[in-house]
Amino acid sequence: MRIDIITLFPEFFDGFKNHSIIGRAIKSGKVEIVVHNLREQAKDNYGSVDDHPYGGGPGMVLRFDVLLDTFNHVKSILKSQMPNSQIKTVLMTPQGEVYKQKIAQDLAKEDNLILICGHYEGYDERIREYIDLEISIGDYVLTGGELAAMIITDSVIRLLPGVLGDDASSQDESHSAGLLEYPQYTRPTEYEGKKVPEILLGGNHKEIEKWRKEQSIVRTKERRPDLL
Ligand code: 6GU
Repeated sequence: MRIDIITLFPEFFDGFKNHSIIGRAIKSGKVEIVVHNLREQAKDNYGSVDDHPYGGGPGMVLRFDVLLDTFNHVKSILKSQMPNSQIKTVLMTPQGEVYKQKIAQDLAKEDNLILICGHYEGYDERIREYIDLEISIGDYVLTGGELAAMIITDSVIRLLPGVLGDDASSQDESHSAGLLEYPQYTRPTEYEGKKVPEILLGGNHKEIEKWRKEQSIVRTKERRPDLL
């Protein structure tokens, strides 16, 4: 998979790209992340990419010409380097569909993602015609789409085959089965009087599986009844 990110702040992604699992996925060629600076398509010598909204009002709006030219530039790079691949374009916006594991699973099947990060008050409305999907990561407002793009990138990359050591670990986890994950324990079996549940130490895999399924349901009922 290749993920192209369009942003005013490419340097935001430097640390992210070197982070352990993401860094390893990049080094092993399972994913490529390419970051593009919106300012490269600025129309004046000051590099301005935003302007006041027509009709008045507070804040600044990202210009349509800058957005569209950047978008077309990225698409033409992709078309020349990977002529047969499918491209899915995603706009980061608090007005988008609320991000869920199911969307991550769908995005993980794509060849190419283009993620567009806005800043300031918003995007010129005309860009919306050119994109496939608008995503919000939750009901709150961020100063920009970069953190949202990192969240999407992170959650998609870890689903790619071979990225997590054990592919089963991305199937069992919270949200992938519509439930929260069961409680986990590791050594020591007892510490400060706190014990690991007996059933996990017995080695009866059928019983352990049953217990985990029950715990998963109990936990979801308690914490996230909306998921049931
Ligand atoms: Cl994707 N962008 C911004 N700016 N704020 C958000 C968001 C995205 N998702 C939730 N809040």
